[in-house]
Amino acid sequence: MIKGEIIFDGNEKQVFATDDPDKVIFRYKDVTVAYNNIKRARFVGKGTLDNQISAILLDNLNKNGVETHFVEVTGDREQLCRKIEIIPLEIIVHNRLAGSLAQRIGVEEGFRGNNTIVELRYNNDDLDDPFINEDHAAALGLASYDELKYMHKQALKANKILTSLLHKAGIELIDMKLEFGRASDNGAIIISDEISPDTCRMWDEATGEKLDKDRFRYDLSDVVASYRTVYERLKQLEEK
Ligand code: C5P
Repeated sequence: MIKGEIIFDGNEKQVFATDDPDKVIFRYKDVTVAYNNIKRARFVGKGTLDNQISAILLDNLNKNGVETHFVEVTGDREQLCRKIEIIPLEIIVHNRLAGSLAQRIGVEEGFRGNNTIVELRYNNDDLDDPFINEDHAAALGLASYDELKYMHKQALKANKILTSLLHKAGIELIDMKLEFGRASDNGAIIISDEISPDTCRMWDEATGEKLDKDRFRYDLSDVVASYRTVYERLKQLEEK
């Protein structure tokens, strides 16, 4: 696979064209951002860990019937992915209430509700990714009602699969953000962004310790060490 020109240069990752029109290369940076890019830092080694963790989680979804863009790891910080047309939505699944949702609804961090909550945000930095519902998304032409229903179903399936995988590694999946796109090779709607401690809340089941981007958001230190813990535990599972 020949790496071509850069087609997207984001805060935390870059996307490159390849000699296959239906494939791209994702490259993870060591940079991390939070609060709509207001807070920013560089952590040496984080890009590699995001790449490795995301590869394990996306591969697990592919193997369990939830299609994602992931094809294979091609380098320390790089993975080959199917090219997609972005659907500018964030689908956020909450198993427990934490972060901005806990604040917004007025419950303590980690509150266990009676059911899983799925939220929809319009992926638009200028508007600070506002919450929208299916009617807004359909009205804006971002996706049809059928597509929205499908993404909702896939998000819940992905949540079940990853909750179970992470549980085997002694990690509780508190919440996660998913993005979907339309694959350029066959038009299928597939999960199309990273899934890592940057996009999920992951807590150590034994200690309740946060092992995700909240370590950076809340200045809790040991960001890279926590991401490494997640990677090493998942890697150990793969080796069993
Ligand atoms: O920030 P908030 O508490 O709303 O985030 C909910 C979940 O979605 C967290 O796991 C967070 O890391 C993720 N998220 C994300 N990208 C965003 C917003 C939230 O990955 N733009």
